[in-house]
Amino acid sequence: MGIVNQDNITDVVIESLGKHGDITDRQREIMVSLIRNMHAFVKDVKLQHGEFLAACDYLARAGKLCNENRQEFILLADILGVEVLVDMLTNPVEGKESESTVLGPFYRENPPVLPKGASMIQKHFDNEETAYYEGYIRDENGDGIPGVTLNVWEDAPNGIYENLDPDQPEYNLRGRYETDENGHYAFVAVRPVPYPIPEDETAGELLHFMGHHPNRPGHMHFIISKEGFRPLISQIYDGDSEWLEEDSVFAVKESLIGNFKPAPEELGTDLHFEFDFVLKAAAAEHAIAAE
Ligand code: BEZ
Ligand code: FE
Repeated sequence: MGIVNQDNITDVVIESLGKHGDITDRQREIMVSLIRNMHAFVKDVKLQHGEFLAACDYLARAGKLCNENRQEFILLADILGVEVLVDMLTNPVEGKESESTVLGPFYRENPPVLPKGASMIQKHFDNEETAYYEGYIRDENGDGIPGVTLNVWEDAPNGIYENLDPDQPEYNLRGRYETDENGHYAFVAVRPVPYPIPEDETAGELLHFMGHHPNRPGHMHFIISKEGFRPLISQIYDGDSEWLEEDSVFAVKESLIGNFKPAPEELGTDLHFEFDFVLKAAAAEHAIAAE
């Protein structure tokens, strides 16, 4: 039944799935839901043709902005809270493991490999507050895991990541560390300051269309990994930061908020931040395959 009217259009499109080519069960599941939800949305807001054309033009402009340095669709998904939702569905917390959150667009591979306790500060700013970060990476039994790799990165006290700021040295405020035999990590960096996500072009248009601000609260990014454990992509948040409850990308989780305290003299920094993470063992089938 391919003759359409406003009442049957959704069923007609769904019934066409797989008629002229094989599709998997997952493809069918995704397409049925996509078609149902898109049609419901279009009917709900009574989308007009001019608005439809404006949306097509918008998506075309977003696509043209994508290159190896900017993935505009991830940014748009972040602004809509979609990436954080996908992450929560992909990495559900089932036991004692730490919560994950979005990777963000500012990760760089191959940061400097630094010894435990070393500083990743390469350039100083007048307004910086230095901080000693430390804690344990544990398994779900509470035992520290030795030899865990931590990739960490943050914005500078001017609110800009090193790779977007020609006045900062390469890989400033980025480092790769390893836990010691007790699962303990430590490094020196700065207190992260709030910053705006890219607010130009289509990301900015979406923020303005939604009546949102672009700001993120102060946070430190982590990728924590070791063979035999599920890699953890996460962030820790400054509990005193502005925008904590109004993150422009909705990535703040209660369990990821910590507090800076004045540092004891022997640490040699202004502040001290202690935070432990728990890694989940990799799924059994992967662990067996890796043996
Ligand atoms: C970030 O934390 O670096 C980030 C996350 C999502 C969108 C933009 C920036
Ligand atoms: Fe960030």
